[in-house]
Amino acid sequence: MHELDHYIYPHRVLHWLVAAVIVLSLASGAILGTLGFERAVALAGQEVTNAFYTAHKTLGVGLLLLMTLRIITRLAFVVPDHEPPLNAFERVVSTSVHHLLYLALIAMPLLGWWATATGGFPVQFFQWTLPPIFAENKALSETLFIWHGRLGWAILALTVLHITGALYHWRIKRDNVMKRMSLFE
Ligand code: HEM
Ligand code: HEM
Repeated sequence: MHELDHYIYPHRVLHWLVAAVIVLSLASGAILGTLGFERAVALAGQEVTNAFYTAHKTLGVGLLLLMTLRIITRLAFVVPDHEPPLNAFERVVSTSVHHLLYLALIAMPLLGWWATATGGFPVQFFQWTLPPIFAENKALSETLFIWHGRLGWAILALTVLHITGALYHWRIKRDNVMKRMSLFE
């Protein structure tokens, strides 16, 4: 039955949207972190640099919205069975990686928001400037940006593990794990 061998369609669409957005956020963040504001301006000019920062923040806040919807579609609907069932090792590793990913994908945009607001910079989402929420505190902002970068590495590592697991199930074990999340099968 369709309901039992796939996550509900909106949850699958959200999975692949989140995957695309996280790749773009990590890539744009890595460029910003490597160059820093001054070098970016020297290379690309003030206007392009500002647009790039806004794009990064928009992706991050967008991810927060997508993850909120995704938690709802995950908790409110039936989860398909594994066919054949996962063994204990697969169950523990996959559940841990999934939970850590959920946690990190919520924490990362909040940390970006917090670091940006305490740095006295605008928290932008497309053309809107969102409420800073946190009072300015430059020293705290610097520390939070360091943690924003570290959490980026952690997300990258978890994603590599996750994709390795998905490929193993899809090409080697050939069970229904990929089908559960696929948009096309
Ligand atoms: C999933 C969401 C996000 C990801 C994956 C992400 C990733 C990153 C990464 C990897 C860096 C480079 C850090 C470094 O090495 O110094 C970075 C920098 C930055 N992020 Fe994010 N970020 C996200 C969300 C946000 C949000 C929501 C905001 C603000 C509203 C934000 C603001 C910034 C800023 C301003 C920088 C530049 C810091 C600097 O100049 O050193 N990020 N981000
Ligand atoms: C090529 C890239 C990717 C592939 C092939 C892939 C594949 C899959 C598959 C097959 C599942 C279902 C696992 C199961 O239910 O047993 C899944 C679930 C999941 N994926 Fe991915 N994924 C990819 C990228 C990503 C990325 C980039 C993220 C986030 C950083 C992510 C986060 C998750 C999470 C949190 C789950 C848990 C399922 C749930 O929502 O409850 N995936 N993925």
